[in-house]
Amino acid sequence: MTLSYYLSASILSADFTRLGQQIAEAEKSGTDWIHVDVMDGHFVPNLTMGPFIVEACRRVTHLPLDVHLMVESPDHLLEAFSQAGASILSVHVETCPNLHRTLQTIHELGCKAGVVLNPATPVDLVETVMHIVDLILVMSVDPGYSGQTFLPEVLPKITSLRQNLDRINPNACVEIDGGINASTLPMALKAGANVFVAAHAIFEHPEGINAGVKQLRAYFPG
Ligand code: DX5
Ligand code: ZN
Repeated sequence: MTLSYYLSASILSADFTRLGQQIAEAEKSGTDWIHVDVMDGHFVPNLTMGPFIVEACRRVTHLPLDVHLMVESPDHLLEAFSQAGASILSVHVETCPNLHRTLQTIHELGCKAGVVLNPATPVDLVETVMHIVDLILVMSVDPGYSGQTFLPEVLPKITSLRQNLDRINPNACVEIDGGINASTLPMALKAGANVFVAAHAIFEHPEGINAGVKQLRAYFPG
């Protein structure tokens, strides 16, 4: 089974006074997905974007909107995000006591369903949902902010998840998020990730968004 590789540009580091232009530039440069970090000030210390921003993104790009829900109770927000135009809704396993039901709801809303693991969360917690997910997102920083330092100790989790998915659900993606740049992306790729989220390395690249996207995509095989 050959999976494609995707770069998901996280707008958390974008200049919000020019969000539409920055998304358009990321798209033109070759970004595959747009990653939207939703934070509630409870599950993570930061407070960021809601469905209103997803709806605004939907109006400026046709790229898949990869919505990462870092909120304490995602269930009651799923419909609003799907109506706003989310393509993928990813929920943290740490926030979902009824994980099968939550993932089923995401599918019923017409979105792809992802499940996310914090760096300290073991892979066993997603074992029973592997057959129904479209992606598993491994955090390589404690979520909350862009520009944090990559935690290489999560790499064995990527390898283990990819091996298990290859048996159970080979079409599912393994995504990595946090501290991805030109030095860390190759490590994550080697470990088995096929979707790479980056905020700082794209939107704060010293030579601009196009250079940031091109530098990361240069590592993709083929
Ligand atoms: C972290 C967010 C990430 C963040 C990544 O809590 O989930 O998506 O934007 O930022 P970088 O790529 O700068 O580490
Ligand atoms: Zn994220």
